[in-house]
Amino acid sequence: MSDPARPVALEAEGIRAGYDGVTVLKGLDFTVGDEIFAVLGANGAGKTTLLATLARLIPLMAGAIRFQGEDVSMLPPYETAARGIGYVPQEKGTFADLTVLENLSVGGMIGARSRDERMAEVFELFPALRAHQHQLAGTLSGGESRMVACGRALMQDPRVLLLDEPTAGLSPLYVDMFFERIREIHETRGVAIVLAEQNATKALQVADRVMVLSLGQAFAVKDATDLTTEQLKEGYRI
Ligand SMILES: Nc1ncnc2c1ncn2[C@@H]1O[C@H](COP(=O)(O)OP(=O)(O)OP(=O)(O)O)[C@@H](O)[C@H]1O
Ligand SMILES: [Mg+2]
Repeated sequence: MSDPARPVALEAEGIRAGYDGVTVLKGLDFTVGDEIFAVLGANGAGKTTLLATLARLIPLMAGAIRFQGEDVSMLPPYETAARGIGYVPQEKGTFADLTVLENLSVGGMIGARSRDERMAEVFELFPALRAHQHQLAGTLSGGESRMVACGRALMQDPRVLLLDEPTAGLSPLYVDMFFERIREIHETRGVAIVLAEQNATKALQVADRVMVLSLGQAFAVKDATDLTTEQLKEGYRI
């Protein structure tokens, strides 16, 4: 189990990963502490591959992932989830045939705190979900579905939350709300966030540090306020 007393630290050391002989991540080194860490990059840069690798859904070809000082490179995803690495995939991330409540309950199977207490917190964060609690997740709108996916991951009481383009395809109102919630999750719950984003402007508004991925390599890792427009453009050039 994750130890709430220890500071968050997710470390990637020389990680290489990909699919069937295609190397997508070509040796990445970075550490995520108690912060919002944005991963920016063009379509195909490797953002989803990176988050799925950190969630241990894609095996490493080389390198290591450490969490709270322990090597988690070889652990299965349910183990890393139990240790405090939450993951919200780019695609919906919900069980379509289960209701909203059932989806949240599945997330709550991990962790020591009462499920009801955590459920109440999720509804506090996303009040819109309350009215939909008995609806099948597969029938929710895109925005509602993202909230359930995020709520389900939060039900696991994560120390770090991997969010893969949480606002892709959402209307501007939802986008703003979601970014506010991300800040809130970090600031009031002490959850570190790794945020993969296409929307560089929005991401840079909430992020503490940023990594620009370009063709599977880290183009820049720096404070969000130090990233220049030129560096951003250069990183997005493929
Ligand atoms: N299952 C797969 N099998 C083979 N190649 C894949 C697979 N999934 C992704 N890729 C390739 O890996 C590269 C990185 O894809 P990835 O999805 O990580 O990019 P991304 O930065 O998340 O892009 P986007 O912004 O479009 O979501 C791409 O060239 C993609 O075609
Ligand atoms: Mg992606």
